[in-house]
Amino acid sequence: MTEGTSAGVLPAGRVRVVGMIGVQREDPSTAGASLSVFGGSINPGGEVPAGVDGEYIAEFASAHEDAGFDMVLTGYSSSTPDGFEVAGYAAGATSRLGYLIAHRPGFVAPTLAARKAATLDQLTGGRIGLHIISGGSDAEQRQDGDWLDHDGRYRRTAEYLDVMKRVWTETKPFDFGGDFYRVQGARSQVRCRQQPHVPLFFGGASEAAVEVGARWADVFAFLGEPLDSIRQRVEDLRRRAAGHGRELSFSVSLRPVLADTEEAAWERARGILARVEKSTRGKIVPGQAAREQSALSQRLVNFAATREVYDERLWMPIAYASGGAGNTTCLVGTPRQVADSLLAYHDAGCTSFILRGFDPLNDAIEYGRELIPLLRQGAARSGAQPAAGS
Ligand SMILES: Cc1cc2nc3c(=O)[nH]c(=O)nc-3n(C[C@H](O)[C@H](O)[C@H](O)COP(=O)(O)O)c2cc1C
Repeated sequence: MTEGTSAGVLPAGRVRVVGMIGVQREDPSTAGASLSVFGGSINPGGEVPAGVDGEYIAEFASAHEDAGFDMVLTGYSSSTPDGFEVAGYAAGATSRLGYLIAHRPGFVAPTLAARKAATLDQLTGGRIGLHIISGGSDAEQRQDGDWLDHDGRYRRTAEYLDVMKRVWTETKPFDFGGDFYRVQGARSQVRCRQQPHVPLFFGGASEAAVEVGARWADVFAFLGEPLDSIRQRVEDLRRRAAGHGRELSFSVSLRPVLADTEEAAWERARGILARVEKSTRGKIVPGQAAREQSALSQRLVNFAATREVYDERLWMPIAYASGGAGNTTCLVGTPRQVADSLLAYHDAGCTSFILRGFDPLNDAIEYGRELIPLLRQGAARSGAQPAAGS
């Protein structure tokens, strides 16, 4: 076992800004009010058509690189193009941008997954991260032939990450015997370019998720919950990780809705909501978790059912309308106001920010111009002070 690793930790004052790329241009009828970027199961308005468009992937990735993002996420579902292939293709069209590949344990052997990630990390000059998704929908897992239940999936994830880390770090062939995986004489001729291994992000909010994430993840990823909740979760996860002799970093996902004045930003947000409600009508039930077994979706929906706005500008109605379908909580305001809100999450311990808009390509460009510089400057200032977050 390789505990206490430092993959994912950033120097004080540095933040990691992560966007998201899709594989197909959104449907014109939902353009500008697109919930999903990658499509698949969480595509309730049918906003991302089926298919894969290489030219668009390259354009989308390059726009993020030019806008100053550090990485982009590729999503995972049981019906969408494979993230490893998408990331490898997009990496060929960019030179600096990193790729955070959402990956569900259980569908390939962990030894092979480790070699895939290490190979791509070498070929891209160290630009790969994995976002480990254990799965929040039984029905979707079964589409790929997986019949484990929610907590069983997390037990499998723990073994999977144990094996992957050993493939990345052990110098002699090793054996592993668990409930889900048995390997004999495992060895790899490829190491990750990033040492000791590619950063492992991890999402989930159930007890099983926090237990497994505290032990095995590098960056624990939250969706955009109110600040008090994030502070409590950071404290809880730090304590659990310390019990394993480890430290975690933290990420938060949010959807900035920007305009020159605060009033115009709220107007823009209300317009997006009206269009999302229209495109999802009859397709999903507002206020009901989009991923049936996902504690994370349920938490967002519960917060959204209680209040429309938290902490001045964390705006919940789109999370309610979409059943907490992934990153759906918004920060609404001027770039300065939204940057200040992001910096409040930074003060709470988050050093990675997964940001995307409802007009995904144009918003990435706008964030690069208006928002990311303010976020980086503010984080650098607080990093210059003693006792900043991880
Ligand atoms: C930033 C972030 C991105 C996620 N991306 C995906 C995804 O692409 N596909 C997916 O099925 N689940 C995704 N999830 C969902 C969770 O990883 C998790 O599988 C789900 O919430 C069920 O776990 P829970 O019941 O412990 O919350 C994401 C979560 C986070 C925090």
